[in-house]
Amino acid sequence: MATDVHRPMTGQAVRVEGLTRSFDGRAVLHDLRLDIRPGEFVALLGRSGCGKSTLLRVLAGLDRDISGTVLVPRRKAVVFQAPRLMPWKRVWPNVVLGLPGRPERALAERALAEVGLAHRSTAWPRTLSGGEAQRAALARALVREPDLLLLDEPFGALDALTRVTAQRLVGELWQRRGCAVLLVTHDVEEAVLLADRVLVMDDGVIAHEERVDLDRPRALTDPRFAALRAALLARLGVDTATGTT
Ligand SMILES: Nc1ncnc2c1ncn2[C@@H]1O[C@H](COP(=O)(O)OP(=O)(O)OP(=O)(O)O)[C@@H](O)[C@H]1O
Ligand SMILES: [Mg+2]
Repeated sequence: MATDVHRPMTGQAVRVEGLTRSFDGRAVLHDLRLDIRPGEFVALLGRSGCGKSTLLRVLAGLDRDISGTVLVPRRKAVVFQAPRLMPWKRVWPNVVLGLPGRPERALAERALAEVGLAHRSTAWPRTLSGGEAQRAALARALVREPDLLLLDEPFGALDALTRVTAQRLVGELWQRRGCAVLLVTHDVEEAVLLADRVLVMDDGVIAHEERVDLDRPRALTDPRFAALRAALLARLGVDTATGTT
């Protein structure tokens, strides 16, 4: 299959057109189109197995067995649901792992400070809590100074309280850094809380989108918040009030 991965034209952080990705002859992404503006925060919802992670892997440049056009910034970083830290390296070397040259410890420590983890710089990954490990993974993404930050359910494994803190942190980092973000989540509230635009994926394409024109910080009690949440839940085919797919 043809691969076409380039830097985007000016004016867009991501431009995807006619993207198809098949596994064993079955198209998971089918003629998909997606544009993300520089600095835009986009959330991606969709039922399990609909192809969200597949799309993220393509955007991250981890999967090139595709057809179609995929234009993404050269500087991009991904955070997965599991933090994926190397257990035999302390936290700060994990943060700069894979960077070219011999990156300085100060670089890692600046990123760790940004996620509130400066004091755990020399800790071993196994001694971190789930939330701390996920913040270390976020620091590893930030140190790459991404123009596009790809987040694949980064808070999925966290307890409710830690999750709220992590969501707030991502919101703050995005506002400070100004990079484009694509956040995959199962949590409709999280999507409406953080994103400028919420997409719903179905049948291999972006089947629906809602623009979130609410001032930040957003209140769950705002009736417009509730209306958006209800509209998205309906799109996802969720008829209970659980808020997840
Ligand atoms: N390497 C692979 N080989 C074969 N099939 C795959 C491969 N990767 C993904 N798939 C299939 O593609 C479909 C989409 O998978 P994907 O992981 O993108 O879903 P998802 O939307 O991220 O789901 P979830 O919300 O559960 O994480 C699934 O049916 C999956 O089994
Ligand atoms: Mg997934």
